[in-house]
Amino acid sequence: MIYVDNAATTFPKPKEVYTQVLDCMKNYGANPGRSSHNLALKAETKVSEAREIVSNFFKVTNPFNIIFTCNATEGLNIGIKGVLKPGDHVISTVIEHNSVLRPLNSLSKKGVKVTLVGVDKYGQVNIANLKKEIKKNTKMIIINHASNVLGTIQYINSIGKLAKSEGILFMVDASQSAGTIDIDVCRDNIDLLAFPGHKGLLGPQGTGGLFIRSDIMLEPFKEGGTGSNSNSMNQPDFNPDRFESGTLNVPGIVGLSEGIKFIEKVGRRNIQNHEKQLIEYLLKELKKLDFIKIYGHTSYKNRCSVVSINIDTMESSNVGYLLNKKGIAVRTGYHCASLIHGIIGTIKWGTVRISPGYFNTFDDIESVIKALKEIYTGV
Ligand SMILES: Cc1ncc(COP(=O)(O)O)c(C=O)c1O
Repeated sequence: MIYVDNAATTFPKPKEVYTQVLDCMKNYGANPGRSSHNLALKAETKVSEAREIVSNFFKVTNPFNIIFTCNATEGLNIGIKGVLKPGDHVISTVIEHNSVLRPLNSLSKKGVKVTLVGVDKYGQVNIANLKKEIKKNTKMIIINHASNVLGTIQYINSIGKLAKSEGILFMVDASQSAGTIDIDVCRDNIDLLAFPGHKGLLGPQGTGGLFIRSDIMLEPFKEGGTGSNSNSMNQPDFNPDRFESGTLNVPGIVGLSEGIKFIEKVGRRNIQNHEKQLIEYLLKELKKLDFIKIYGHTSYKNRCSVVSINIDTMESSNVGYLLNKKGIAVRTGYHCASLIHGIIGTIKWGTVRISPGYFNTFDDIESVIKALKEIYTGV
C-alpha cells in the first residue's frame, strides 16, 4: 500500500518508535508518579525526559508548561474552554478544523462571542481583516498554523505580534505543522500551542500535548488522581498535574519522545525539504492533467505537505475508493473542516487529499499520478 494520508496520522513511524513503545510495555509499563518502586520510577523518568524533549523542540523554557494529552483535539479543548468565559470575545477563522470550530460553536451558545474571519481562495488569512475584528473584550485569537484541507501556512509570527501588542492571548493549532515547520513559542508570541503527537512528530496515536504559558491559569478540563496532593479533594493548582489526571499513556509518550529524537537526528529542515520536493513534484505533474482541479496555493510556498484535488466532476469518495483498490491510501471528503469548503467550492463532495510524509518517495508520487490518470480514463 502506498500511504499518502499522513495529514491524518503519519505511517509508518520510525522503527525506533516501535522498539521503544514495545520496550516500555514489556519492561517498565508501570504507573508513573504514583508508586516508589523501580518500575514506576523508570516510567516517571521516561515521561520527564519526554517532557523535556518536547519543550526543547518548541523552545519552551519550562518543561512543566507542557502537558500531555491524547491528541490535538484534547489540547485545543483544554485551551479554548479553559480560557473563554461568557462575555468574552474570541477571533478565529473559517479554515479551522472542527476541533476548534465545534468547541467555539458550543461556547457561543453559552455567551461567548465568536468571530470567524474569512480567508481567500488559497486559504490565507488577511491580518488587516483580523485586526479589524479586535474588540475591547477580545480574549483570544486562535489560528490553524497549517490547513489540513489546503495546506495553507498562516503568518503566525505576525499574528502573534499583533495579539501581544493588543494584550490578547494567542493560541495556535499546530496539528499540521508540528514536526516539519519551525515553531518557537517565544519568537512567535504563542501563549497556547496544541499539537498532536501522532502526525508530524512521528509518535503513536493517542498522543499529543499542549503548551500553556506560565502565567495563564486555565480551568482544568478534567479532575482526578494525579499522584500529587492525594489527601486533598482539590485538583492541584500547578502544571502539569493540574491537567494530567488519570494514568498517562506512558508507552505513547515514550514513542512520541522517540519520534522527536528521530526528527532531531534526521534534521527537521531535511524532513521539511524532502516533503517540499515531493509536493513540488506532485503539483508539477498534477498541473499537466487538465482533468484535475488543484485547490489552494499553486506551489509549495506557504503550503505544508497537503494537496487537495478533485478529478473533473467525480465524487471524491469514489476517487478514494478507486485509489484504494489500486493500493493508494488517501483521505477524501471534508476532512473535519466544515467551513472552508464553502469558500473553495467543494461543498458537494469535498476533496481528495494527498499528504505525503517523510517516508514517501518520488516513485510513490509517480504511482499516485498514474493511478489518477487511470481512474479518469476508466482503466
Ligand atoms: C488542523 C487540525 N486540527 C486539529 C486536528 C485534530 O487532531 P487530533 O486528531 O490529533 O485530535 C487535526 C487532525 O487532522 C487537524 O488537521
